Amino acid sequence: MSKIKIAIQKSGRLNEDSVKILKDCGISIDNGKDQLKAQTRNFPMEVMFLRNGDIPQYLRDGVVDIAIIGENVLIEKGKDISIAERLNFSKCKVSLAVPKDFQYNSIEDLDGKKIATSYPNTVNEYLGKKGVKAELHQISGSVEIAPNIGLADAICDIVSSGSTLFKNNLKEVEVMLTSEAVLAVSPKISDENKRLLEKLQFRIQAVLKARN
Ligand code: PRP
Ligand code: MG
Repeated sequence: MSKIKIAIQKSGRLNEDSVKILKDCGISIDNGKDQLKAQTRNFPMEVMFLRNGDIPQYLRDGVVDIAIIGENVLIEKGKDISIAERLNFSKCKVSLAVPKDFQYNSIEDLDGKKIATSYPNTVNEYLGKKGVKAELHQISGSVEIAPNIGLADAICDIVSSGSTLFKNNLKEVEVMLTSEAVLAVSPKISDENKRLLEKLQFRIQAVLKARN
């Protein structure tokens, strides 16, 4: 019998809630802490614990059938991938922020400035729409430190509680998008696994309804 392969975030803000929603669906994962691939009980499913940013490509290639992923990651590098369910957790914003003492009036103030981010496509698209040109520095984490070390004038990153911005003396000046966890689907999913996906969605919908 076929098993549906699901990717979830290996570590980070989505991991715990992803495991939790599967658990609430009656699916428990058998894994040791460092095991990157695990089997489940009560549902024909295999779980892969992957890095967030790698998940769109795994979906595209059909290495995994579905994934629980932040919509912001799909917007950045998986616009071709479809969403089966919105999961109503891990809500966040993707925002532009500048040092507190930066006299910010409008997006034009970022023209010609250096922006550090892990979301270059999202930033480019946003600035492009506003007719603003900035110099982007792509970094993969700890983005909020960039202005303090002279690497950039502004940053674009995920904002959830706002505490990382606050601790780094930054202020949010533009919310580019809002995001939440979603269930994304590989374009290569087999018909057999599509049926398993339908069963899973049925359970997820019941869980989400009960949570409200
Ligand atoms: C994420 C994100 C922000 C922060 C936002 O970083 O990149 O820095 O969380 O959350 P907050 O508004 O609640 O402070 P994370 O801690 O996941 O680490 P990373 O940037 O090194 O990936
Ligand atoms: Mg961070």
